[in-house]
Amino acid sequence: MIIDTLEKPTSSAIDPFSPDYFRDPYPFHVQLRDAGPVVWLEKWGVWAVARFEQVQAVLGDWRTYCSSAGVGIVNEKKMGGWRKPSALLEKDPPEHTANRAIVSRILSPAALRALRATFEREAEVLVDRVVGAGDLDGMADFSEAFPMKVFADAVGVPVEGRHHLVPWGNMVFNGMGPRNALFDRAMANADEVTAWITAACKRENLTPDGLGAQVYTHVEAGEISADHAALLVRSFLSAGVDTTTFAIGNALFCFAMHPEQWDVVRENPGKVKQAFEEIMRFESPFQTFFRTATCDTEIAGTAIPQDSKVLISVAAANRDPRKWCNPDTFDIGRSTVGHVGFGAGIHGCVGQMIARLEVEVLLTALAKRAKRIEICGEPERLLHNTLRSFEKLPVRFHA
Ligand code: HEM
Repeated sequence: MIIDTLEKPTSSAIDPFSPDYFRDPYPFHVQLRDAGPVVWLEKWGVWAVARFEQVQAVLGDWRTYCSSAGVGIVNEKKMGGWRKPSALLEKDPPEHTANRAIVSRILSPAALRALRATFEREAEVLVDRVVGAGDLDGMADFSEAFPMKVFADAVGVPVEGRHHLVPWGNMVFNGMGPRNALFDRAMANADEVTAWITAACKRENLTPDGLGAQVYTHVEAGEISADHAALLVRSFLSAGVDTTTFAIGNALFCFAMHPEQWDVVRENPGKVKQAFEEIMRFESPFQTFFRTATCDTEIAGTAIPQDSKVLISVAAANRDPRKWCNPDTFDIGRSTVGHVGFGAGIHGCVGQMIARLEVEVLLTALAKRAKRIEICGEPERLLHNTLRSFEKLPVRFHA
């Protein structure tokens, strides 16, 4: 590409991997967006895009901004990664296309319809347990409990040892950040967790009728190897538990802070789906991830050299006033079309329909029973390199 006139790069001392940023990223988002369409982050030597327009453009251009060098801060082609690369998240076409086709078919609308009745039944059981039960931890007792049951059952992983799923998600998503204290803490028990996950993805350890087993039908058809199938099953376990848990936690917090909007949902359960999209926009559980420039390129006139890492702040894009009216207002009545909470482009979340189904049935069951969600203690913010939610969320569900 020939670049005639290049802008002087805008640089910033903002550290998107600092505790202050994790506790309250929103003032930093404003600074990053206002600094320019693309900003050089001095501390880490990476570029960042935080405006909706550039986030969407980068996500839409996999040829220039690839995933195969890792979607974290490290260029895995040069430095290697801490695990075998994902067969979806960290692949480019044509490999990605073939793998994605397999997984998309397994997570088809028909497959999800078959799961709905079970999810609804489990949602009733959980809601029965928590409503009127006094002070609870909204994370462990509710937000985590649901995907850990219904999603893990749906994939068909062994019941014993499921407690490794959360530490695994922690490794995957904290592992996308720099080698900081959060990274080290997430990796503290890596050998044991990895061993369980690796075993759980094997054909013989999966239930015969789950989503995981369906991946192996492609082995029987001679399309992929058993090792490859295990890697695809692993992508369910990597991306499907923490993300949904944290989205549910964020939903509880949003509705506790905005009881008038919870009333709207209670009176019109049909609005739950739309409400979830607003939660994804307003408090995006997945905040940031990276791409790597495959060639010398430019963003809005700023030169981006080949191999540069580009941080994509989907959370900042979801509150960009250039795109959204009153972006800092939580409003379940607004149009959220185009939010990038599930990413966009060829890597846009392949599990988004199952995530939506889980949250929809759970919030619908809760809306039938809980008049109010009260925060009954000091929430403990999750400090995390990639995701945003709570470590602990003291709540009371009032009948
Ligand atoms: C609310 C919950 C969820 C959120 C916020 C979320 C968010 C995302 C985002 C932002 C991406 C794009 C990453 C990138 O472009 O580099 C993604 C990809 C992905 N997600 Fe989700 N996700 C959620 C739930 C799930 C679930 C339940 C599954 C289980 C099947 C899943 C599986 C995946 C996979 C396999 C990818 C990689 C897709 C690809 O590279 O083609 N996600 N997700």
